[in-house]
Amino acid sequence: MIKLGPGAVIGILGGGQLGRMLAMAAAQLGYHTHIYCPDERNPAEQVTDRLSRNCYTDEAALIKFAKQVDVVTYEFENIPVASVEILRQHVPVFPSADVLRVSQDRLQEKDFLNDIGIDTAPYKAVSTEIEAQEALKIIGFPAVLKTRRLGYDGKGQAIVKNSEELPKAWAKLNSHEIIIEAFIPFDMEISVLAARGQDGDIKCFDPAENIHKNHILDLSIAPARITPERRQQAVAIARKIVAELDYVGVLAVEFFVSSAAPIFRVNEIAPRVHNSGHWSIEACPTSQFEQHIRAICGLPLGDTSLYGRAEMKNLIGDDIHDMDLYLKDPDANFHHYGKKHARPGRKMGHVTRILPTVK
Ligand SMILES: Nc1ncnc2c1ncn2[C@@H]1O[C@H](COP(=O)(O)OP(=O)(O)O)[C@@H](O)[C@H]1O
Ligand SMILES: [Mg+2]
Repeated sequence: MIKLGPGAVIGILGGGQLGRMLAMAAAQLGYHTHIYCPDERNPAEQVTDRLSRNCYTDEAALIKFAKQVDVVTYEFENIPVASVEILRQHVPVFPSADVLRVSQDRLQEKDFLNDIGIDTAPYKAVSTEIEAQEALKIIGFPAVLKTRRLGYDGKGQAIVKNSEELPKAWAKLNSHEIIIEAFIPFDMEISVLAARGQDGDIKCFDPAENIHKNHILDLSIAPARITPERRQQAVAIARKIVAELDYVGVLAVEFFVSSAAPIFRVNEIAPRVHNSGHWSIEACPTSQFEQHIRAICGLPLGDTSLYGRAEMKNLIGDDIHDMDLYLKDPDANFHHYGKKHARPGRKMGHVTRILPTVK
C-alpha cells in the first residue's frame, strides 16, 4: 500500500472535464496535479499546475512524466494498455493495466461479468457479416451491433430490427471486431459509482437514474426512483465487481433495470469517474472526484450519503448559452468546463440541484 500525503504530485492521463474536476478535488486535499494529454486547450490544463502535452504512445515522454509524479491515474479508458505498462515500471498506476484491458473491450468486459455470475445482455462476438447473420439467428431481433472498442455516447453502434437491415449496419460500423447484443427492453437505466481503496475498503454512492437524449446523458437523478431494496441489490453487484477486479479508485457500473427477471443486467463498466456521478460534488460529503483521489493516494474513503434528492442536467452544445439563467437560479449549482466552442453534442458544463427530501 502506498500512502501519499498532501504535497505529492498526482499524474492524470487525459485533459477533459473529468480530469479538470479530479484536479480540483486533488487541490482541495492539498495535492499537486500533472496533466498528461495530447490536446491543446483542454479543460483540465486551466486548473493544474503542471502539464505535459504529448501523445499517449511517446515512450520517452511517458517515462519523463512517470519520474515527475508520485502516482498515475486516468480520466478516460482509451489510453493504450501498452502506455500504462510502461508507466507502471516507474510509478504506481491506479486503476491497474489489467482492469483497463478488460474495460476497453466490450467482449472481455461481458465475459468477465458473466464469469463472476453477473447478468448482461446475451451477446456474441463476430468478425464477418456472415458470422453476424448466423449470430442474429440465435440472438434474435431487435439486436444492437457495437464495435468492441472505442465507442462512446452511442458512437460505434447500430440497431438492427431484421436481417435486411444488417448490411447497412455492418457497412456503417466498418470494423471486424463487433459484438452483437440482444436489445434489452429496460424500464430504466441506472448507474452505481463504486470506490475501492488500496486496503480493500469499498464505498458506493447511491444508484443514479440516467435519462439519455440522442444517446448522450441528459439527466441523472439520485437516488434512482426504484425501491430501497432494489437500490441495495444494484450496490451489491457494483461492490462485487470492484472486489473481483481488485480495483483501486472509482468505477462506474451502468445497468439496465427491467421488471421481468433478470431485473439487473450490467450494460458496461467504466474504470474512472463518470458523468452520471457529477451530482456528488454538491449532494454528498465526499464527491466521486475526491473519493477517487483518496483511493489512489491511500487515504480513508469518505462518506457518500446524500444530503437530499439530487438532479444533474448536462449542458450540451448551445445549452451553455443559458448560463445567466442558471446563475440567477438560487437552487442551481452551475459548472462550466472552460471549453471555448459549443459544438453540437459537446459536453460544455452541467447543473446540479438538490431537493431536500430523500424518499
Ligand atoms: N443491448 C441494449 N439494449 C437496449 N439498449 C441499449 C443496449 N445497448 C446500448 N443501449 C442503449 O444505448 C446507450 C449507449 O450504449 P452503451 O453500451 O452504454 O455505449 P456508450 O455509453 O459507450 O456509448 C445505453 O445507455 C442504452 O440506452
Ligand atoms: Mg454507456
